[in-house]
Amino acid sequence: AEQNLENIDLEQYPHINKGLAGIVAFSTTKSFIDGQTGDLIYAGYHIDTLAENATFEEVCFLLWNDRLPNQEELDELHNKLRSERQLPEPVIEYIKNTRKDAEPMAVLRTAVSMLADFQDDSNDTNHAIAVTAQIPTIIAAFDRVRNGKEVVSPLDEGSTAFNFLYMLNGEKPGQAAEKTMNLCLVLHAEHGMNASTFTCRTICATESDMFSAVTGAIGALKGPLHGGANTAVMNMLLNLKEQGENADPVKFTKEKLNKKEKMMGFGHRVYKTFDPRAVHLRKMSKELSEETGHEYLYEWSEAMVKTMKEEKNIDPNVDFFSASVYYSIGIQPDLYTCIFTMSRISGWTAHFFEQKANNRLIRPRALYVGEKNLDWVPVEDR
Ligand code: ACO
Repeated sequence: AEQNLENIDLEQYPHINKGLAGIVAFSTTKSFIDGQTGDLIYAGYHIDTLAENATFEEVCFLLWNDRLPNQEELDELHNKLRSERQLPEPVIEYIKNTRKDAEPMAVLRTAVSMLADFQDDSNDTNHAIAVTAQIPTIIAAFDRVRNGKEVVSPLDEGSTAFNFLYMLNGEKPGQAAEKTMNLCLVLHAEHGMNASTFTCRTICATESDMFSAVTGAIGALKGPLHGGANTAVMNMLLNLKEQGENADPVKFTKEKLNKKEKMMGFGHRVYKTFDPRAVHLRKMSKELSEETGHEYLYEWSEAMVKTMKEEKNIDPNVDFFSASVYYSIGIQPDLYTCIFTMSRISGWTAHFFEQKANNRLIRPRALYVGEKNLDWVPVEDR
């Protein structure tokens, strides 16, 4: 039921809900989160089921259509994504010419914004497919350019996960690497009214276009309290590594808490228990760090989890174990949030469709706490 608070007199009811915590502003069929039990459902399917069975492309179709595709529909989606992977030449030129030490998320934001100029129609479905197909190409191209390597063009075959790793490394990935990347994409695809999705819907609600909404969402995801946390987690682990023989994850965690600093990758506005996505990433982190000789990363991560639970009763979120997973498969830490974007684009675009289908301008209020009766003082007298 919708509550009518439209004409609420803010002076009489000076209630501020800082951070909009607990406010329900939309209905959605895209995902359900139970923060107490640690359950997550995308359009009817539990995240555990999807993690075990789904490809990222099936998740895209599911989020866009609220049902799974049949084989023909899935093949069609694969074909469309493959045909859209190439970037317009000016976007490649921008990637080649921007600063090599620019933040990858900033480059991605600018490049996605540029993509809008090269769309021939105003069809939102086509735009969603184009932007989903092109984000991995942008990320891989920038990473190659900044490392002094040739840009690798996408192949006309393979999944999103396969092509991304191919364009990033210049060689076709093995099945295990593709499977890991696919699982990461499935796990990050959609998550209710998080800050970036809310940004996307807010921009959509002004009747602006999909590229503007996605560009804004990338800006929101970039921050360390949201998607930027996975890079921050890796930097934290690398800081610890620098301490060599003296590296002690328990002491490190306690010292951070004593200094009132946040442990990145922990805590969540909605989950008050273990993030169900972190369950899968934790397992992957263990397997991969053993395979690649980075056992210490997994062991330190577990020590931090235990200490955070004991000291603050706070559990890890999706960003915590994803850091050691990406590190183990050889991805540079500052690309982690870009990979998050590569996946979350599916959720953002799905919410764009949902918002547009039943739109109303998003416009909350602010309680004014400033002065009201000041007299004007001429500039020379101030
Ligand atoms: N480390 C230490 N203490 C924490 C952490 C943390 N990571 N997270 C929350 N707390 C503490 C706060 O200090 C606060 O304690 P207090 O009541 O004693 O002051 C209490 O828990 C509540 O924290 P808030 O920041 O008020 O909770 P909020 O719901 O506003 O924030 C957030 C949630 C931003 C995710 C927070 O937990 C955080 O900053 N975590 C670290 C960054 C991070 O990992 N972000 C990724 C989130 S998942 C995602 O967006 C994909």
